[in-house]
Amino acid sequence: MSKRNKVMVTGGCGYIGSHTIVDLIQNGFDVFSVDSLINSKEEVLKGIEEITGKKIENYKIDLSVPGSWKAIADREPEIAGVIHFAALKAVGESVKFPLDYYKNNIGGLLEVLEWMKYSKIPDLIFSSSCTVYGNTNDLPVKEDAEFRPTSSPYGRTKQMGELIIQDFFAGFEGKSISLRYFNPAGAHESVLIGEAPSNPALNLVPVLTETAIGKRKSMTVFGTDYPTPDGSCVRDYIHVMDIAHAHTLALRHLLDGKQHSSFDTYNLGMEKGMSVLEVINAFERVSGIPIDFIRGERRPGDIAEIYANTRKAKDILNWMPTRSLDDILKTAWEWEKQRSKI
Ligand code: UD1
Repeated sequence: MSKRNKVMVTGGCGYIGSHTIVDLIQNGFDVFSVDSLINSKEEVLKGIEEITGKKIENYKIDLSVPGSWKAIADREPEIAGVIHFAALKAVGESVKFPLDYYKNNIGGLLEVLEWMKYSKIPDLIFSSSCTVYGNTNDLPVKEDAEFRPTSSPYGRTKQMGELIIQDFFAGFEGKSISLRYFNPAGAHESVLIGEAPSNPALNLVPVLTETAIGKRKSMTVFGTDYPTPDGSCVRDYIHVMDIAHAHTLALRHLLDGKQHSSFDTYNLGMEKGMSVLEVINAFERVSGIPIDFIRGERRPGDIAEIYANTRKAKDILNWMPTRSLDDILKTAWEWEKQRSKI
């Protein structure tokens, strides 16, 4: 292990960030968070502390403001690596407010890279998405598939983010990995942390749990006329703790000097396509609650089907997801009940 053992997690109070902090601590890392709290709450740090016994510090700064990080950089000279989550992620919202997405997702990334240069932090893990593949026909999709046009500014910030990182690391003494998530869902098994969006949920699994608990009267299946077996969209759902552990493995891979190229990418999914209707059925079975849903119009920007080939993460990072779709839905449901105090 290098002398530096401290990991900076941007967006550490957010969904995947908070779960990753738990996994990092349980694997021996010291961690601090940088989170502006525009779409998250510092309370999540209490949940992390209850799970791990460790108190995590969060620096409340907006990374998209140039130089906002300088004072902290001088206080934290021993950073081994950065895991950069801090970003906006609502596809539809990004169409309405593209400048917010470019400012936060691209502006924030540029500042993180400036910080890395300033503090000579060698290694970066970037939070990317299968959205970079656009509407690909090449399924299960592999990392070497080309970037196809993506339907939203959000998707473009992930494509551009990867290109910026490649350019930066080509001339920087350090290494970088981009982790392309498919559909992360579920919560930590303790349900002391989970997905807690400040705004109404938009992703399928939290929409399902909110419907089951009665926060919504019913939900809509966006499109049942896709060219898929049952007509609804097919995605690859992966447990958030399996995603979290991939970050620890990727960072360890870089810190141990095992990566030769300056930039590499890995898919994180279950290699299994599940339709929206199949997920609803599975949720009803797991929770015992019937879901009131309507068959609605297609949601603009959705693609019919995408699922991952994850051979590379398994072979090189030794990553193996250990939770099933049922585990995803059970923990998401327990988390919803816990949050709603039922
Ligand atoms: C998209 C991106 C993903 C990104 C995520 C961030 C793609 C292929 N995926 O995921 O990379 O990280 O946004 O938010 O671009 N659905 C319903 N009813 C609902 C909600 C969702 O039917 O109320 C359906 C959607 O049409 C979709 C599936 O459920 O087919 C999953 O949707 P969602 O959870 O929003 O994720 P993606 O759009 O797949």
